[in-house]
Amino acid sequence: MIWIRDRADQIHPTLDSLRYTYSQHQQRVAIQQDLYQHRTNWKVIGSFISFTIFVMLLFTTVVGIPIILTEVRNSIHLCTATAMWNPRGVTVAGLASGLPSTSLAGLQFPHDIYVYGNGTILVADYNNNRITKWDPNATAGILIAGTGSYGSSNTLLAKPAALAIRDKQLYVSDLENYRIQIFPLHSNVSSPEAVTVIGRYGQGSDINQIDQVTNLIVPTLYPSLLYMADSKNHRILVWDAETDTTKLVAGESGTFGFNPMQLYNPIGIALDEKTNSLYIADTFNNRVQKYDINERNSSMTVAGWGHLNHPYAVQLDPSGTNMFIADTFNHRILVWTNGTRQGRVIAGDNTPGNNAFQLNNPTQIRFDSNYNLYVVDTNNSRIQRFDLISNGC
Ligand SMILES: *[C@@H]1O[C@H](CO)[C@@H](O)[C@H](O)[C@H]1NC(C)=O
Ligand SMILES: *[C@@H]1O[C@H](CO)[C@@H](O)[C@H](O)[C@H]1NC(C)=O
Ligand SMILES: *[C@@H]1O[C@H](CO)[C@@H](O)[C@H](O)[C@H]1NC(C)=O
Ligand SMILES: *[C@@H]1O[C@H](CO)[C@@H](O)[C@H](O)[C@H]1NC(C)=O
Ligand SMILES: *[C@@H]1O[C@H](CO)[C@@H](O)[C@H](O)[C@H]1NC(C)=O
Ligand SMILES: *[C@@H]1O[C@H](CO)[C@@H](O)[C@H](O)[C@H]1NC(C)=O
Repeated sequence: MIWIRDRADQIHPTLDSLRYTYSQHQQRVAIQQDLYQHRTNWKVIGSFISFTIFVMLLFTTVVGIPIILTEVRNSIHLCTATAMWNPRGVTVAGLASGLPSTSLAGLQFPHDIYVYGNGTILVADYNNNRITKWDPNATAGILIAGTGSYGSSNTLLAKPAALAIRDKQLYVSDLENYRIQIFPLHSNVSSPEAVTVIGRYGQGSDINQIDQVTNLIVPTLYPSLLYMADSKNHRILVWDAETDTTKLVAGESGTFGFNPMQLYNPIGIALDEKTNSLYIADTFNNRVQKYDINERNSSMTVAGWGHLNHPYAVQLDPSGTNMFIADTFNHRILVWTNGTRQGRVIAGDNTPGNNAFQLNNPTQIRFDSNYNLYVVDTNNSRIQRFDLISNGC
């Protein structure tokens, strides 16, 4: 990654550097495609070498990719249907009392977190207009981006709502500025300058505009892409850093509805790269929809049926077939196993509250490498961790 230093002596990435990284990726793909040609030639040539290359390639593509994906997600074995988490949460960021605070020891209505395997987290501290980093056992956050002030300059944020990481860059949905910002992750200044990558054309529902992006995903296999839940436009978009173009993946731009092709304020998304499936928390329709990312009318309902009240987030287990759902207005987190018509409560007790067993409007779910569950407990202005106590296997 190339960083440039501007006049203010601050560091930020350029779009060119994103393209550069992507073209390296493309070169690797091209080399693999060249190798792939041998698959059709080896019979003709009868060459043992070609055959070996073919076998190696087959191994890489058929076995390698699933292994890579498995290693990323599957650091421990999890049998989700019967796994158990401690129902008593521990506050890992913010105040356990559930009170909002502007101090660095507190949070105000956080909306998203990024969780590293080791349990260090980054918090999109929505009402404090900042991103803070919390190591395990930290009693206060460290400022990573924003200053706390609401604003639209390139160091400021206005209600940061979603986070994603690519290499050493932090993507932030700067919700009320209707833009996606990229900040350097390891800057030596506390409030670094950002580059705007999406949102240079204002608020709206054209393909190059956004209107309240509430969730971001950078795919592992195609890190030049960025999936966005453009919730107020009732659609999911994908942006390609290489071409700086955006495509519609699901929903109808600017139109909400209830039919299978439509979405109504979709707030959360999850991607299964093994099957190219996108899961959408179709929040105001009280359901979760599953799409093939290459076929916009492939939509099917995989959770809902009267058992959800405004789900804000969906995540997948290591197998990619069982879901975790933040059932936000029911103040609980559910495991929803493949093919079932009802979830199982793993955190929260269905009533809003601030004791260790309770949540108040939980809006996001993430995991560390031990599959401890982290919940963004928005209306308690805190992040709760529910430790895995049995992997269920
Ligand atoms: C956890 O990992 C992240 C990313 O590598 C690193 O920035 C952070 O310092 C680590 N936390 C601890 C407590 O080692
Ligand atoms: C956090 O605290 C717990 C309990 O006090 C301790 O076991 C653990 O090692 C600590 N973790 C870190 C990263 O300091
Ligand atoms: C950040 O690092 C650069 C050199 O790497 C240095 O010139 C600059 O003074 C540093 N800024 C701060 C605030 O430490
Ligand atoms: C999906 O859309 C395409 C093109 O609009 C159409 O040809 C196809 O029949 C549709 N498939 C389904 C299952 O509706
Ligand atoms: C459940 O598993 C089947 C195959 O075992 C798969 O076709 C289906 O898409 C899965 N459902 C979900 C919601 O992942
Ligand atoms: C959560 O906070 C929002 C924003 O202040 C508020 O509108 C909503 O009523 C709260 N929900 C609950 C259950 O307290």
